[in-house]
Amino acid sequence: MRKQILAYLMLLGAVFLLGTGTAKYSYDDFESPDDCGACHQQIQQEWAQSLMAQSFTHEWDAIEYFKLALPHALKEPKVAGVKEGCIGCHGPLAFLTGDIPPQPPEKGTRVNEGVSCEICHNIIGSTEPVPFNFSYIIQPDEVKQGPRKDSESEYHQTAYSSFLVSPELCATCHDEQSPYGAWVKSTYREWKAGPYAEEGTRCQDCHMHHYPGTSALGGQERPDIAHHVFHGSHHENKLRGALDLALYLESDTVARKKELELTVQVFNGKAGHSIPSGSAEERMVWLEVSVTDAKGRQYPLAVSPKGFDGEEFTIADPEALAYQAMGEIMEIADFKGLPRDGDVPAGSRIFRKPFFDPQGRMTICQWYTENNTRVDYRVGPRETKIERFRWAVPEDVPVGEARVTVRIYYSQVPSSVGRYMKLPPFEYKPLLVNENSMALQIR
Ligand code: HEC
Ligand code: HEC
Ligand code: HEC
Ligand code: HEC
Ligand code: HEC
Repeated sequence: MRKQILAYLMLLGAVFLLGTGTAKYSYDDFESPDDCGACHQQIQQEWAQSLMAQSFTHEWDAIEYFKLALPHALKEPKVAGVKEGCIGCHGPLAFLTGDIPPQPPEKGTRVNEGVSCEICHNIIGSTEPVPFNFSYIIQPDEVKQGPRKDSESEYHQTAYSSFLVSPELCATCHDEQSPYGAWVKSTYREWKAGPYAEEGTRCQDCHMHHYPGTSALGGQERPDIAHHVFHGSHHENKLRGALDLALYLESDTVARKKELELTVQVFNGKAGHSIPSGSAEERMVWLEVSVTDAKGRQYPLAVSPKGFDGEEFTIADPEALAYQAMGEIMEIADFKGLPRDGDVPAGSRIFRKPFFDPQGRMTICQWYTENNTRVDYRVGPRETKIERFRWAVPEDVPVGEARVTVRIYYSQVPSSVGRYMKLPPFEYKPLLVNENSMALQIR
């Protein structure tokens, strides 16, 4: 009981401190992941390969913060808060110590540790009933919050935390509201509204699979140690096959000069949230469908429009320009914008959720997003999207066997933005999620 009262008082204190923005710790209040790695060797190595270990040093993060968000925060009062807001999730150590803005990654300060062991394992709750925007309550001390009630270490104390093992822990950083009130990240809220929450399948179950082993030097042999991979879309093994692709042809034989309808079904059977999720402002998943004739000539097909509101944003158009706010922030004269869909071939169906700035232009600046509810054409958890394509068979196609191929790709950032911001090409290259094909006889 005394312990509970004490915890409650500390919680109130933390709420108060966070609320008034005076929560100032020093970097020395947090041990480095290398310290933890002395005993938790495997966990440390797993975590070090994850994006959360690179949440501040990852090229695109640093470029977006230092070239776009920070300069914007310094001149546009409405978004002034992102100067420290980005850091609340991407560089929690700097946020908690008041080191704002932090030094860039090349300076090698401790902000580079990113979302480290000491962040997650010292979080005891959130100030919000449904967490978002780095609303974690943190208590850096000797007690490490863990998933077990029988864990003992001579080096530190341990406590079982129902918050640590809950998806609400993840929600503190994986859901985000912009200064304009738009939900610009909603992975937790997508999960909560979908089938997995009801079934009790947590974020941890898919992103921290369990394996038999020990978690520490001197730790107990256990059947279910939590892996710290946190693989997401940046790990091709996680992405590959995340969407199933089924292909149906109206008929497997077609005559020249006739028309053929093909149907593609896209099924999200693996992710507990929409695909894409997370940084939806810049993610694209698209379908490329083509027929290859007996002589190897290719005929790319355009998706048949369905006629829903905002559909124009979901069909690749090489002429469409967007992202004008980037040019304004960087003060580039006569900036007309960049190709909205990067290199996605014309007519491809794009599964995405476009974000719009206060002037109604599509944007990749999630902090400068006023509205993103116009159209959400992503594939929800266990949802199937049906797309139709028509092929008007040309007169000169050789008779014989042709092949219909469908491929679905994913990209983190539109290639137009990636090139303009000089990101390393791996940040925007198309990643193959799945493919399928069928034979077609031409008469
Ligand atoms: C000197 C060795 C040592 C060091 C250094 C160490 N730990 Fe541990 N830790 C252990 C042992 C042993 C256990 C118990 C493992 C078991 O129960 O099987 C443990 C358990 C844990 C648990 C699980 C607690 C639970 O209740 O489930 C967490 C979380 C944890 N450590 C985090 C950390 C963090 C974070 C650091 C760095 C700040 C760290 N440890 C440094 C030895 C160490
Ligand atoms: C993003 C948050 C996060 C980070 C960062 C993180 N952990 Fe964990 N850790 C968790 C969660 C959540 C669990 C419990 C998983 C579950 O419930 O299945 C856990 C479990 C553990 C356990 C107990 C393993 C077991 O199954 O007994 C240890 C030990 C541990 N973490 C150590 C570390 C160390 C050391 C680091 C840094 C190298 C680290 N963690 C980084 C969230 C995190
Ligand atoms: C303190 C903030 C914070 C917490 C808590 C947190 N995350 Fe993250 N997470 C981030 C940030 C920031 C990134 C983005 C890193 C980047 O792209 O640079 C990220 C990235 C990820 C990715 C990588 C996605 C990819 O594209 O590969 C996964 C998966 C992930 N987190 C899962 C989780 C899970 C599961 C939990 C809860 C157990 C969790 N996170 C808790 C901040 C957090
Ligand atoms: C049923 C398994 C499952 C559950 C539950 C689940 N995920 Fe995922 N997650 C995946 C798969 C598979 C991917 C890879 C496909 C993708 O990137 O969308 C993924 C991708 C991600 C990404 C990268 C998204 C992107 O497009 O950049 C993040 C971040 C993430 N998950 C976080 C979470 C969080 C936070 C939760 C809990 C609220 C969660 N996941 C629940 C399976 C799951
Ligand atoms: C509420 C927490 C939170 C805040 C605030 C936040 N981010 Fe993030 N950020 C994340 C998470 C979580 C991811 C990973 C999502 C995913 O994998 O799709 C991420 C991903 C990113 C990415 C990587 C996208 C990619 O292609 O891999 C960039 C760049 C980024 N954030 C920049 C920023 C900037 C700049 C700000 C401030 C304007 C900011 N973030 C504010 C949590 C946050």
